[in-house]
Amino acid sequence: MLTEDVVLPLVRGRFAVPYLWHARCASTQDVLRGSGLPEGAVAVAEHQTAGRGRAGRSWVDAPGRAVLVSILLRPPSGSPLPQLSLVAGLAVAETVETLTGRSAAVKWPNDVLLDDRKVAGILLEGDGDAVVCGIGVNVAQLPSELPADARVAPTSLALATGLEHDRATVLARVLDGVERRYDAWRHDGLAPLLPELERRNALRGRRARAEGVEGVVGRLADDGRIELLLDDGTARLARSGELELGG
Ligand code: BTN
Repeated sequence: MLTEDVVLPLVRGRFAVPYLWHARCASTQDVLRGSGLPEGAVAVAEHQTAGRGRAGRSWVDAPGRAVLVSILLRPPSGSPLPQLSLVAGLAVAETVETLTGRSAAVKWPNDVLLDDRKVAGILLEGDGDAVVCGIGVNVAQLPSELPADARVAPTSLALATGLEHDRATVLARVLDGVERRYDAWRHDGLAPLLPELERRNALRGRRARAEGVEGVVGRLADDGRIELLLDDGTARLARSGELELGG
């Protein structure tokens, strides 16, 4: 289990203070929201009874099989908060890649893909001046334990690699990775992360629909918006939101 005594010895950075563990809760997001805790506070659950995904969707887990974590962040006021989804996405993708030896991609703005299947998702929720960054990583699920009707076909680290992965190690690396990239983002913005985001951009060159228009996905703009090249030759920049993959 991902209790404090198991996880904290693996964490190198300053996040995870305090570390709030629940065998079961509605959503780890709600453990932190309105808590007034300091930046770096972390909530972890073995099972959520009302886990949330983006756009009002639910996030269903198989107890003890995933990493379900929320991190409280207190970015400077006026920061471009939607960028935090990409910042966290890179940290999760890097963790997945390090632990599996396989390249992991970020499907703008909030999914992490392994073999073109979703292995992790990120949910940002505002909490006054703070942001609660929720991360769900599929670690040990079997096919029957993953949602059959997901928008993006899901996988787990175990399914993708055929190997067992230690959830505590995944969690500790995600926490350290998010901290390192968040600190870089606070200091220098998104610019230093753009080359890696481009390299990990799962959507580049694919047809997609966003904000009512359809086209081919191009580059990421400096501010984290994504370019859509329309059939009439014009380009549009989409803000944070949903990109549906087209035909
Ligand atoms: C998505 O892909 O739609 C985002 C999924 C985010 C799931 C995580 S699990 C931990 C945290 N608590 C929640 O209720 N949701 C996030």
